[in-house]
Amino acid sequence: MPAYDFSGQVAFVTGAGRGQGRSHAVAYAEHGADVVVTDICENMETSDYDLATTEDLQTTADMIQEEGQEALALEMDVRDEAQVEAAVEEAVEHFGKIDILANNAGIWNLEYLHEMSEQKWDEMIDADLKGVWLCSKHVARHMIERGEGGKIVSTASTAGHGASYRGGHYTAAKHGVVGLTRSLAIELGEHGITVNCVSPTGIASPMTEGIIEANGQEAIEELSEYTGSWNVIDEGPVEPRDVSEAYLWLSSDAARYVTGISLPVDAGLMAK
Ligand SMILES: NC(=O)c1ccc[n+]([C@@H]2O[C@H](COP(=O)([O-])OP(=O)(O)OC[C@H]3O[C@@H](n4cnc5c(N)ncnc54)[C@H](O)[C@@H]3O)[C@@H](O)[C@H]2O)c1
Repeated sequence: MPAYDFSGQVAFVTGAGRGQGRSHAVAYAEHGADVVVTDICENMETSDYDLATTEDLQTTADMIQEEGQEALALEMDVRDEAQVEAAVEEAVEHFGKIDILANNAGIWNLEYLHEMSEQKWDEMIDADLKGVWLCSKHVARHMIERGEGGKIVSTASTAGHGASYRGGHYTAAKHGVVGLTRSLAIELGEHGITVNCVSPTGIASPMTEGIIEANGQEAIEELSEYTGSWNVIDEGPVEPRDVSEAYLWLSSDAARYVTGISLPVDAGLMAK
């Protein structure tokens, strides 16, 4: 018996080509939702590691179909308003509605703020913050017009609540996601739309593998040394599915009076 029932609902997931986004998309399907899976499916110039591919996105769509649910795969860059608007329109045309928006897409790279190029700053803020606003804007307009409420969940980070060493642009973007979540929550509440974010600690995903490959394991350990941030529960990697469980709850009616929060999935890191 699934803990949640999203039968008849449609979830729209960004960054669904792999990692946490794929996990969220499959988790929604396991609980009965049809899923629009979207991803950029190409690299960005300042990225330290490769992003998802068209084949990765198709694999996610196949996994949803294996759960017996319908998937619509759309290549979309969350930084580009025209692409976001077109993808939301196509999803609504195809499924008739969107009940849940999962703003998961994002990038991470390491750089000192005093050495960072303007392009690196801009790509981070555009992908990790502006993209959340653009997708929320266009999906919220649909939800308001439809008049049946909805759920918006975004991925911030523990970096949305404190400093990052060699990640000031990431921290600025993720703090922005927390603030944007609060503001959207108070604006959209009257339309029956809840807006929340999750703040994961380090997750075992292709992003983390890519950063380690590009910079070395010691670079990651250095980040924790500088911020003094360690998981309290340290029994192995925190997995994408651990974050999906928070997405499921915040997307369900079990959380109907929860809005404007950042829910840590951080193994206790921020409790100290
Ligand atoms: N991995 C971690 O340790 C960690 C910790 C906290 C928060 N996060 C956040 O979790 C989210 C998911 O990350 P992940 O760990 O699964 O990483 P990932 O790199 O494995 O997956 C991110 C996905 O987003 C896609 N993407 C990136 N930029 C995009 C854009 N402009 N438009 C559309 N799609 C885009 C990528 O192609 C990729 O498929 C991100 O927002 C990330 O910042 C990650």
